[in-house]
Amino acid sequence: MASDKYENHEYDVIVIGAGGAGLRAAIEASAQGVKTALICKSLLGKAHTVMAEGGIAAALGNVWPEDNWKVHFRDTMRGGKLLNNWRMAQLHAQEAPDRVKELEAWGALFDRTKDGRILQRDFGGHRYARLAHVGDRTGLEMIRTLQQHAVHKGIDVFMECTITRLLKDGDRVSGAFGYWRETGRLVVFKAKAVVLATGGIGKAWKFGTNSWECVGDGVALALEAGAELIDMECYQFHPTGMVWPPSVRGILVTEGVRGDGGTLKNALGDRFMFKYIPEFFRAETADTEAEADRWYADKKNNRRTPDLLPRDEVARAINAEVRAGRGSPHGGVFLDIASRRDAEYIKRRLPSMYHQFKELADVDITKEPMEVGPTAHYMNGGVRVDADTEATAVPGLFAAGEVAGGLHGANRLGGNSLSDLVVFGRRAGLYAAEYAKVFKGTPTVDAGQAEALARECLEPFERSGGENPYAIHQDLQECMQTLVGIIRTEGELTKALEEIATLRERCRRIRVDGNRQYNPAWHLALDLQSMLTVSEAVTRAALERKESRGGHAREDYPKMDAELGKVNMAVRKVGEELTVTRERIPEMPPDLKKLLEGDK
Ligand code: FUM
Repeated sequence: MASDKYENHEYDVIVIGAGGAGLRAAIEASAQGVKTALICKSLLGKAHTVMAEGGIAAALGNVWPEDNWKVHFRDTMRGGKLLNNWRMAQLHAQEAPDRVKELEAWGALFDRTKDGRILQRDFGGHRYARLAHVGDRTGLEMIRTLQQHAVHKGIDVFMECTITRLLKDGDRVSGAFGYWRETGRLVVFKAKAVVLATGGIGKAWKFGTNSWECVGDGVALALEAGAELIDMECYQFHPTGMVWPPSVRGILVTEGVRGDGGTLKNALGDRFMFKYIPEFFRAETADTEAEADRWYADKKNNRRTPDLLPRDEVARAINAEVRAGRGSPHGGVFLDIASRRDAEYIKRRLPSMYHQFKELADVDITKEPMEVGPTAHYMNGGVRVDADTEATAVPGLFAAGEVAGGLHGANRLGGNSLSDLVVFGRRAGLYAAEYAKVFKGTPTVDAGQAEALARECLEPFERSGGENPYAIHQDLQECMQTLVGIIRTEGELTKALEEIATLRERCRRIRVDGNRQYNPAWHLALDLQSMLTVSEAVTRAALERKESRGGHAREDYPKMDAELGKVNMAVRKVGEELTVTRERIPEMPPDLKKLLEGDK
């Protein structure tokens, strides 16, 4: 390949994405002695992980000695409505405590118990207070820690670089093709193994918690390379995002507010969550206000408040209240912590929430309730990986973090994302390095393939007239928000597929002006391909899952279906089409099954 045309680099392992999973993977691969590069779209340290607020879930047993990996495993499986990859749920619960202690050893300053151990807070669906945290800025501290560790290890970091395609040598992956955001110059990375750690897809929806990086690029890269996706229909809407003012709609309001005492109320002042306790969680959920208040008062291990049911349950309950006309003035409900906790406590435990509402909405949360509503938050599904190694179906390609599916099943418990990043980031880095070590020869990149990718990449500059990428993005977000939102119907999903097809056509006519240097319209034109692909994958899988389970709720199939509870929806790219097939979840071994005894 002509070296004047492309910048060329060669590594044993490249990690795409520098959030929690990518950083942890790169640290591990490099520790195994292989030549490792970390590639990220933003500046190092500005990853979406920094937006994670409430904490990292790990059964340390510091607040509740009764807690252990078995309870965490059970909670994760129940939260995921049993669609989870049980082996991932087991490894995650077993290894999360070590990963948290490792972060502490690398310099993370977690909040402490009175006797100096890592403090843990309550979150939805967790039987015990289990989230290690740093106020409500846990993701930021985690990235700071991992970044410092990676930099000290001397890992090569390539910033502001977007990867648009994975390169292949026959069946196996051999590198990645992309461009520098600053100059627009094209770049080829040859690699024996590639770890995808690109995060989520939230930018396909109009109102969400996700930052600009979350466009589903990793999912599209994997699909295009021949990997499979699972559980894409189970997209998570976090129950509490800001709803007012419009410019900040969707921004995360941490579940830590409810964990630390906040309660949800409708416009009539009712604690409406008591009406929405599902059978699945009734035994351990307080069913009167008095009982919930007792739990809040002493946090004893009795029946927890329904304000802390898993996210899918709370988000749907809020949605139902708003639809019934009992919402707050701006279309949400009220979240009130001021009537239970004093100002000093709120400012100490939830400093970001205090500032966020004060600065952005002129609301003093130590005195007034917040207005909150569901907001697009997290991809519960993603690229299918082997539980132990994080290998995808494509030799040499690994995936970890939000881009990978399996661990969370139909619905993720809060706090299980940060632990997912470090548990499976480490494993992905380890096994990618092992793969690279036994790789025979050097990875080869087909010059013709790179030429074709370069042409494709630059096409939007060549067209005359045509479509505006911002308008297409806006229309896609509108479509996903209204037709593939928190509650779906067959008619809406079918209409969404038609609209996505039209948007794809429009995308082929996108024209961007200017040159390649820092051209955000060009970047968006390329990102739209990924967003359309993931939107179609979510919609097709949602049509196929004719039941309601976790993050996937169908108005026309409102109940769980026992048979569908035994299958994942797998999405593949066959020719130019995305196909969905039902695939049976492997039988759980008896020792793990025993941990779920008593559950229906
Ligand atoms: O509510 C939160 O703080 C979000 C955490 C998470 O998604 O795990």
